[in-house]
Amino acid sequence: MIFRLGDFHFPDDPARLYPDTPDRPWVLEVGFGDGRFWPHYARTFPEPPNYLGVEISGVSLLKAHRRLKDAGLKNAVLTKLPAEVLVAGVIPHGSLDAIVVNFPDPWPKAGHEEHRLLRVPFFQVAASRLKPGGAVLLTTDHDEYFEFACAQAEASGVMRVERAGPPPAALETKYALKWRDLGLGAQHARFVPTRHDPVPNGAISGGTLAPYSEEDPTVPHAVLTLPADFSPQAFDKQTARGGTWTVVLLDLYATLRRGGWVALAHVVEGDLTQEVLVGITEREDGTHLVRLAKFGGPIITPGVKAAVGAVTQWLEGQGAVVKHRGY
Ligand SMILES: C[S@@+](CC[C@H](N)C(=O)[O-])C[C@H]1O[C@@H](n2cnc3c(N)ncnc32)[C@H](O)[C@@H]1O
Repeated sequence: MIFRLGDFHFPDDPARLYPDTPDRPWVLEVGFGDGRFWPHYARTFPEPPNYLGVEISGVSLLKAHRRLKDAGLKNAVLTKLPAEVLVAGVIPHGSLDAIVVNFPDPWPKAGHEEHRLLRVPFFQVAASRLKPGGAVLLTTDHDEYFEFACAQAEASGVMRVERAGPPPAALETKYALKWRDLGLGAQHARFVPTRHDPVPNGAISGGTLAPYSEEDPTVPHAVLTLPADFSPQAFDKQTARGGTWTVVLLDLYATLRRGGWVALAHVVEGDLTQEVLVGITEREDGTHLVRLAKFGGPIITPGVKAAVGAVTQWLEGQGAVVKHRGY
């Protein structure tokens, strides 16, 4: 099953995600690529553990989804998100048996280390999300990243490093085969938490995360009166910045409904990027409602609230009079 960010709870509950198999072990795979690892690894258990796969590539998501379906692996949830967002926002404390990372992008150029996943902040959140006895399993062909990850795990103060041979399934992935064809080997380490200090969920960009709900009065909105001569033609792309977010208002479109428009905004908050739509719709009393649209399953974050604020402010700049702000 494919989940969007908005389909998750923050934190979520494995019993909700896997209602038919709530008591099985739970494995997260980060950067699953075309999804070859899981069918191999799942077979090494008497019953397939519950699987959560996270990827940032949409093409990989679809390939892996088909592969897992063909393998009959039903208790599997795949999502297209940065792993950092999923681990920090969705996974509850002490819930995972393993976090598997096979052949992560090495970011080999000097000065690019901050793009690497396996750094101190990731290990600290991972230690919180793993059960006692759980571990982060890293397999990589990249010696320098391997040593870097081991050093970062030690520096996190919450992980012990155990070097060992990789599980056979990790040597069946697309990248494993690619390196094997070139005659290169792979290194493997288990990072075992020595402490499980809780790291709270929803700490992305300093605010709480809330999925969109149509009935929720807290969906960011504003009510305003537009000037009689309001014209969407006056819209220009613009950027607003706050402490933790950047909002780019990209475009404003007329909707088929009379007196209706929709603004497209790009919202960046740390590792999380969302494209959101903000509707501007005429109400019976002639005022307009500016409101975050449900389309795309947005997560309500400080940046998304700011996007509704940015649209409202732009309309004020065009002569609108704001009657109520709810963002
Ligand atoms: C080198 S490939 C390895 C793919 C697969 N594990 C394999 O062994 O064939 C690294 C993968 O990690 C994904 N990736 C990179 N950064 C990520 C992130 N922050 N969260 C989730 N996936 C990520 C990339 O899209 C890519 O598919």
